[in-house]
Amino acid sequence: MNEKQRLDSSQVTPSDKKSEKDYSKYFQAVYMPPSLKDAKKRGKEEVKYQNDFKISEEFRGLGNGKKFLIRTYGCQMNEHDTEVMAGIFTALGYVATATAEDADVILLNTCAIRENAENKVFGEIGHLKALKRERPGLLIGVCGCMSQEESVVNRIMKKHQHVDMIFGTHNIHRLPNILSDAYMSKEMVIEVWSKEGDVIENLPRERKGKIKAWVNIMFGCDKFCTYCIVPYTRGKERSRRPEEIIHEVRQLAASGYKEITLLGQNVNAYGKDFEDMEYGLGDLMDEIRKIDVARVRFTTSHPRDFDDYLIEVLAKGGNLLDHIHLPVQSGSSEVLKLMARKYDREKYMTLVKKIKEAIPTASLTTDIIVGFPNETDEQFEETLSMYREVEFDSAYTFIYSPREGTPAAKMQDNVPMEVKKARLQKLNKLVNEISAKKMMEYEGQVVEVLVEGESKNNPEVLAGYTSKSKLVNFRGPKSAIGEIVKVKITKAKTWSLDGEMAEEALEVN
Ligand code: SAH
Ligand code: SF4
Ligand code: F3S
Repeated sequence: MNEKQRLDSSQVTPSDKKSEKDYSKYFQAVYMPPSLKDAKKRGKEEVKYQNDFKISEEFRGLGNGKKFLIRTYGCQMNEHDTEVMAGIFTALGYVATATAEDADVILLNTCAIRENAENKVFGEIGHLKALKRERPGLLIGVCGCMSQEESVVNRIMKKHQHVDMIFGTHNIHRLPNILSDAYMSKEMVIEVWSKEGDVIENLPRERKGKIKAWVNIMFGCDKFCTYCIVPYTRGKERSRRPEEIIHEVRQLAASGYKEITLLGQNVNAYGKDFEDMEYGLGDLMDEIRKIDVARVRFTTSHPRDFDDYLIEVLAKGGNLLDHIHLPVQSGSSEVLKLMARKYDREKYMTLVKKIKEAIPTASLTTDIIVGFPNETDEQFEETLSMYREVEFDSAYTFIYSPREGTPAAKMQDNVPMEVKKARLQKLNKLVNEISAKKMMEYEGQVVEVLVEGESKNNPEVLAGYTSKSKLVNFRGPKSAIGEIVKVKITKAKTWSLDGEMAEEALEVN
């Protein structure tokens, strides 16, 4: 089925939503659900670069006098997609609201990474039912990674009839059409393409702040780690052209942004899909380094594609920050093999060594999964010993969560949940211990802080982040907000540092 057909079929909505019985048959006829099997066979489907996004005349003013609210779950990728959707809403005439009671359209931009992420969303969908009953004119939409899952779409169709729209991660640019259809139709509008995804440029964006900005450099993931749903929900790896990225970063720099985070599920695979040139993340970073913006980060790195040239470029420093998030997932080579991470403990350690040699100030953070199917006590201990050896600054730690359709979900698992929980606790204890030790090292040091605003707990105090993403609270003039200032650290806490300003902000607005 080609894209056009899929689109046409998915836009047809059933007229008899209430009859639960022949439900699935009926939907199969009119709606092609996302297929995990298809997603795994990465085809030769050509990636289309579309550069002509426009709000078509027929949709102009669609949102006049109306308000929208987007609730975002999941990673930075989703946060940034929310900014794009907010941009489209704004271009259609809607204004943003922070309260559900006020909103004319509510979107849930969902995450499918673990079961508890999905449960949260289903809880929220349930809560919204009362609101929809009170105000039938309210539109409720589900988008993001969960809507790319067949089982989720089926569950919403069967059990949550108050949802008006479901659309996938490849369909964000179609938001004007989807909204317009939802206003006209009494039925649920479903538009999910299980195709591998295109690259759409020119999308409007309503960025959340004026200091830090996200820039997509690539979409999708082809790594197929055995536990992970992302390659199915986000399509195949496809890179934006360097000139588009550089143009966007330049524009952000010119409009005063101080920190750029380059985004991708596996940024180290950047450029591997270009057929017309050899160009990778190292090349891109080497160009972005020359742009007049104070800080540049990137996330997320996959250890497998982290090449020497990238390390060489990062070692040049300047605006390229010395903090690298490098998910390891496990310290056991056997578990890494079952996870299909395509590196072992030794290779990861060699990479860490290379990075530390080239960038002696580098700090590393990581992601770890405990309780992967059949993980033994010894294998778990290897994760602990590796954590000690690398001395990560901090880590996101998770209990393995089976995701339908992934290879790991089919593995027999003999590790009881209590054991998994105990392992997580033990790991977290070590993570906290090493973080606390690393934070202590800051006492008495002067660090550069990008000031983001007033502290949440005390408006008298300013808050910002160091180049290594440590939260710093200190007293200083409001004019320092949006600037990078030097702060002397007076006290280290578990998750933040207290300090005092070592000098006035260099530039005062
Ligand atoms: N692209 C990134 C990770 C994105 S998901 C990378 O490859 O590093 C963020 C983190 O969620 C992963 O690093 C992993 O630690 C965790 N994760 C992914 N799938 C999971 C699952 N099924 N159960 C538990 N944690 C999972
Ligand atoms: Fe998931 Fe692995 Fe891709 Fe990361 S690299 S998004 S963990 S499949
Ligand atoms: Fe979640 Fe999708 Fe991101 S599954 S972690 S929102 S890519």
